Amino acid sequence: MEDALARFHQDRKRARDAGDPMAALCVLATVDGSGFPQARTLVLRDLHDRLALFMNATSPKVAQLQLGSAAICVYLPSIQIQYRCAVGLEAVDPAVVAESWHLRPPMPKTLDWFYTHVQPQSTRVASHDALHSQLGEFSLPDPLVAPHTAVGYYLTPTMIERLDLAMPTGLHDRIRWTRTSHGWQKDQLTP
Ligand SMILES: Cc1cc2nc3c(=O)[nH]c(=O)nc-3n(C[C@H](O)[C@H](O)[C@H](O)COP(=O)(O)O)c2cc1C
Repeated sequence: MEDALARFHQDRKRARDAGDPMAALCVLATVDGSGFPQARTLVLRDLHDRLALFMNATSPKVAQLQLGSAAICVYLPSIQIQYRCAVGLEAVDPAVVAESWHLRPPMPKTLDWFYTHVQPQSTRVASHDALHSQLGEFSLPDPLVAPHTAVGYYLTPTMIERLDLAMPTGLHDRIRWTRTSHGWQKDQLTP
């Protein structure tokens, strides 16, 4: 039986080898408490042979993820392939997140602490300049460690859909795999 996830990894590798910046990213779609859709770009990480996302727990997207359903979309322009995946989520061990957090540049580190102690991510500020000077005066803990709000989630795709635009016939090839207890069930769809 074809392994849909292996196919996804192969295509991402092909795109990465072609220097495609989109190979590192995904669009994460969630639904907020009012049923309104929300979408944003995130770095799609490969962590312990699994897909993972890192974020700050003060962001509204974390509450949305805890509602239980999420989807990611990845378009790889270098090979003209789109993936759409429904995903389940599982928290990454905080010790693993904390280790990776040390590799973040200084400003995102400062912001993670700012979100934790001053105001949450995605909330209103007076202006960009006002925020910048507030961050300049903000004192960070010493030693500098990750705040508990730095979090990560492993993604487990339950549905993977691949749309290939690069078909010589001009007819796009669209396949959907659904995870079942026996493996991946494959369906060909009209594009
Ligand atoms: C290329 C790119 C990569 C990004 N990577 C991340 C990421 O890995 N984690 C993250 O929380 N936000 C990332 N962002 C910012 C998010 O798109 C978003 O603006 C932010 O997380 C606030 O989202 P929220 O409104 O859901 O709180 C990235 C944005 C871009 C454009």
